[in-house]
Amino acid sequence: MQFKAMIISNHEVSPGYFRMRVSAPPELADSRPGQFIMVRVRDAIDPLLRRPFGIFDVGTVASEFSGCGPQTYVEMLYKVVGKGTATLSTYHHGDHVDLLAPLGTGFDLGDPDEEKILVGGGIGIAPLYYLAKKLVEHSRVRFFLGGRTRDDILCVTEFERLGVETYVATDDGTLGDRGFVTDVMERHIRGAAGRRTIYACGPMPMLQAVAGIAERTGVSCQVSLEAYMACGMGACLGCVVKGKEHSDESPDYRCVCKDGPVFAFDQLKWV
Ligand SMILES: Cc1cc2nc3c(=O)[nH]c(=O)nc-3n(C[C@H](O)[C@H](O)[C@H](O)COP(=O)(O)OP(=O)(O)OC[C@H]3O[C@@H](n4cnc5c(N)ncnc54)[C@H](O)[C@@H]3O)c2cc1C
Ligand code: FES
Repeated sequence: MQFKAMIISNHEVSPGYFRMRVSAPPELADSRPGQFIMVRVRDAIDPLLRRPFGIFDVGTVASEFSGCGPQTYVEMLYKVVGKGTATLSTYHHGDHVDLLAPLGTGFDLGDPDEEKILVGGGIGIAPLYYLAKKLVEHSRVRFFLGGRTRDDILCVTEFERLGVETYVATDDGTLGDRGFVTDVMERHIRGAAGRRTIYACGPMPMLQAVAGIAERTGVSCQVSLEAYMACGMGACLGCVVKGKEHSDESPDYRCVCKDGPVFAFDQLKWV
């Protein structure tokens, strides 16, 4: 669905990271965790292409305008890396952006009886908050959050408020354990009995480490991938990754925008 959204709020939550809430049609309230949004940042040539962002949160509140019904909103958590996100960061309440949403598949919420392990690196937490909100309705949820330094660790309190047990690790040891959060997660998985599913989003090296842990421990695992996107709907093939059957003789490609961005880890070729 394409729509014009009004910016309700847009503020910096940590240096270089912003949280933006925009108005949305009521249908957006049924978005699945893991689906994403394409944002047309400006009505101008540069930047021309829409930029993809995960759905950080969706909800409904009383409208700020008297006589209007409840207002659905959608939130994005984004990191300023280039022109598009730098432009987004300058927007204020009352400005408008053009959105396409919801796009892509979402996470499979799995069996309520198993433990859910969320693992995120840096801005990779963006689609995991809405996922956690849904999962805590039925399951025990633990969240393993990693970043380079303390400024990359976002929204811990929000996850804890949901009742999620949260573990933090930073590369430089400025917050939580020093080192990779995937090592902390693997220790937890090896030390505890019971069935579980891992849900991961973050930089590719982190996802590769998570896929390795899932393989070694036999735990089911879903990963949310990032790729450069142009159309966001499976038309341009600009976002393909290699599927598990891929070889030079028989290509097996998956579109991150349409077949994903969420994949079962064993559907992809990791090397
Ligand atoms: C499905 C999906 C969901 C995403 N969700 C989020 C999110 O919730 N929050 C968020 O902050 N970002 C998210 N991203 C990444 C986000 O789309 C890019 O950071 C954004 O498009 C950059 O736009 P820009 O114009 O600021 O930077 P550009 O000028 O386009 O790029 C600047 C630099 O950023 C890096 N970069 C840009 N796009 C990507 C990308 N897709 N993958 C890896 N590196 C990139 C490159 O190093 C590039 O040189 C998501 C990407 C995808 C595909
Ligand atoms: S972005 Fe065009 S096919 Fe995925």
